[in-house]
Amino acid sequence: MNKLLTPPVPNSSAGLAALKELIGPRNLLGALSAMRRKLGNVFRIRLPGFSPVFLSGREAAHFALTEGRSALNWRNESDPVTGLLRHGLLVEDGEAHDSLRRKVMPALHRQQVAGYINKMWRRTEQVINSWEPGKTYDMLVEMRKLALLIVMDTLFDVDMTPDLERLFPSILDILKFISPGMWLLGGPRKRYEASSAAIDAYLYRLIRERRVHPTGGSDLLSGLIADGMHDDLIRDQMLTLFIAGHDTSTALLAWTLFLVGSHPEIQPTLQAGSDSLDMASPPTPEQVEALVYFKQVIDESLRLYPPIHVGNRQSTQDLAVCGYAIPKGERVMVSIYATQHDEAHWPEPERFDPQRFAPGRLHTPYTYLPFGGGPRNCLGANFAQVEAKVVLARLFQRCQFVLTNRRVHVHMGATLEPRPGVFMQVRVR
Ligand code: HEM
Repeated sequence: MNKLLTPPVPNSSAGLAALKELIGPRNLLGALSAMRRKLGNVFRIRLPGFSPVFLSGREAAHFALTEGRSALNWRNESDPVTGLLRHGLLVEDGEAHDSLRRKVMPALHRQQVAGYINKMWRRTEQVINSWEPGKTYDMLVEMRKLALLIVMDTLFDVDMTPDLERLFPSILDILKFISPGMWLLGGPRKRYEASSAAIDAYLYRLIRERRVHPTGGSDLLSGLIADGMHDDLIRDQMLTLFIAGHDTSTALLAWTLFLVGSHPEIQPTLQAGSDSLDMASPPTPEQVEALVYFKQVIDESLRLYPPIHVGNRQSTQDLAVCGYAIPKGERVMVSIYATQHDEAHWPEPERFDPQRFAPGRLHTPYTYLPFGGGPRNCLGANFAQVEAKVVLARLFQRCQFVLTNRRVHVHMGATLEPRPGVFMQVRVR
């Protein structure tokens, strides 16, 4: 057997540049892509107190997400995401993870998601109705409100409208605290704790109220209560889905609106697609499925700006990946972003081109991973895709959008966000 190599490390000036990118107004992604081009698909970066090994490309991603999965744990007690989600399924491993995943899965099953279309449509309507025609709005904010209303209504049968404005700043605080930049450098803890307590009070109140007034519904909150789960564990799953199920969709919708705003020539095609739907009632699952061009635009948006740009793991034993040795106990980052920007599989990777996803176009497995892969892939992948199509179809049916700020950069928050925001003037059609 060939001798295993040690993952290369960029020279100190490149490492320093990476740190500057991380704490500066830009982000680490450009630096990481440049390092991958220079050093290959396995390399290590050295930051103060933190030296993760980055993996990218088809072979390494396949290893980390599938065959080597059991040697790469998610849970890391020092990671603020673990502190926040406690025993949420996202941060559990082994049997504890698999059992929680089985319990949550039915609420995100394809058939169940088809039943959420009406709520997705009506919540979009609610947000559109809150806009004054001709005014400019930040779509990063508006899509977050919408994604929150949708996830609470569909999964837990809860109308979040009365609590949305009050909890919004707390939600932003906890997201900021779990962002990689903040947890590497140490975030404002006091503020985070107060915000986290406000969200907890809200979730525990919902659990309590549902126990007192059962609805007999088939939503996930009622299901977890019926299953005999105790309040703390229900809170952990609710918070997991609340965060994982809205922050990602927020980023996807905001980036997609930014891309459409920057490429106004595609807006008429989207409008024609949404005009094929009835104005007065929500679309059927078949009609949503038939929104092919919407899917192409969404898929390309997810390739260019994957909301979750990295899979974060810890090696539980010595590993051999693509000819490199990774010792036990290392932080391993599977770079979804770098994999989806690899020119070997995605020619002109920075160019927005929805034709890459035209019907019939096939892609090499493990080169496109917006929803991860293997047994821990995204449980909400179908939910997110249906939601994005329904929301965008209704938005383009009722409105025309004009982007007023083209200078947007990628911010590495809990997800990849378009900053300073996506400011769009909304015109009623
Ligand atoms: C555009 C939207 C979304 C994207 C890009 C996305 C992406 C991802 C990715 C990449 C992972 C795997 C992370 C890893 O391997 O470390 C993941 C896991 C997960 N996602 Fe999503 N997600 C999205 C929407 C959603 C939605 C809407 C929900 C729920 C309503 C959801 C629930 C979950 C859960 C529960 C997991 C953990 C699965 C497990 O560990 O078994 N996601 N997501």
